[in-house]
Amino acid sequence: PQQDRAQLSSLLEATTRAARYFREQLRYAPQAIEYLKQRGLTGEIAKAFGIGYAPDDWNGLRSAFGSDYDSPALLEAGLVIQNDAGRRYDRFRDRVMFPILDQRGNIIGFGGRVLGQGEPKYLNSPETPLFEKGRELYGLFQARQAIRESGVVVVTEGYMDVVALAQYGFGAAVATLGTATTATHIQKLFRQSEKVVFCFDGDKAGRKAARRALENSLDQLADDREVRFLFLPTEHDPDSFIRAEGLEAFHRAVHDAMPLSEFLLRELRGDLNLEIPEERAKLVHEAKALIPKISAPILQLQTIRLLADDAGMSSEEVSHALGIKPPPRN
Ligand code: CTP
Ligand code: MN
Ligand code: MN
Ligand code: MN
Ligand code: MN
Repeated sequence: PQQDRAQLSSLLEATTRAARYFREQLRYAPQAIEYLKQRGLTGEIAKAFGIGYAPDDWNGLRSAFGSDYDSPALLEAGLVIQNDAGRRYDRFRDRVMFPILDQRGNIIGFGGRVLGQGEPKYLNSPETPLFEKGRELYGLFQARQAIRESGVVVVTEGYMDVVALAQYGFGAAVATLGTATTATHIQKLFRQSEKVVFCFDGDKAGRKAARRALENSLDQLADDREVRFLFLPTEHDPDSFIRAEGLEAFHRAVHDAMPLSEFLLRELRGDLNLEIPEERAKLVHEAKALIPKISAPILQLQTIRLLADDAGMSSEEVSHALGIKPPPRN
């Protein structure tokens, strides 16, 4: 543990030093500044998120680290890669750099975007002793006050979504960074706010991410918690939406987002034909995988009632079919 602590602090020192180097390098990189401008970012917001630039150099970090470039910390922090011949080189080259902070503001990793086209579009730090992807939410450190003030947290997919929403005045946004929303993410979110709104991209991948978030939310629910889903038009993500439609439209969309119960019912209904008894049976059958997981007893009853209406059954019959004990009747 003592040794772990020493390792963590040497990794943190490395990421912090690298972040400073990337921020400085941005000043000497007109093409990177131009890219950020063309994406509509102001210098002020770039500063607030500590955005930087990793130069097009195989050993750029050597100029920041000197002989420490060869220390284990850079390798363990995922900043350099070592080839089979033992030679080291920078992981991030010619990319706009987004530092990823933990809740306390420590820099635990990076995401680097190519300027324009190129593969991969984003390169991220690997999992390290500092950075566990399934736990971290990009932007949470910067968003905490806005979340507290607005009573809601909006969960997006990407770096640019969080940064663009903040620039337009919606500060209460975080991102899962392309990984599926985990139960740990959701626990963390509910520690910040009783209301969580998932707002993924309007494309097919975004809708799939919403389905996963739904499934992973069910056992984190409580009757004083609320989860909603904001579905954007197919062509939009939160970044493009707020730029096209503005802050007020985004506020409205958050306010009008679909309650979890409604999304759940829609997912269950799929394209079943509820005129047919077999398909109504299938509806209730499919619900067995979801409704029993709802950890909010009153919301669970409410959802059962919605399902019962669709299935043409009583709530008691549906509860029985789902293996849920109905509440006692006076
Ligand atoms: N992502 C990633 N690696 C990729 C593509 C995506 O890690 N090759 C993660 C990034 O965190 C990204 C998020 O998934 O922000 C969402 O992906 P996508 O919607 O494709 O990117 P955008 O955030 O919309 O990026 P941009 O607007 O810069 O194109
Ligand atoms: Mn996407
Ligand atoms: Mn409460
Ligand atoms: Mn985008
Ligand atoms: Mn996107």
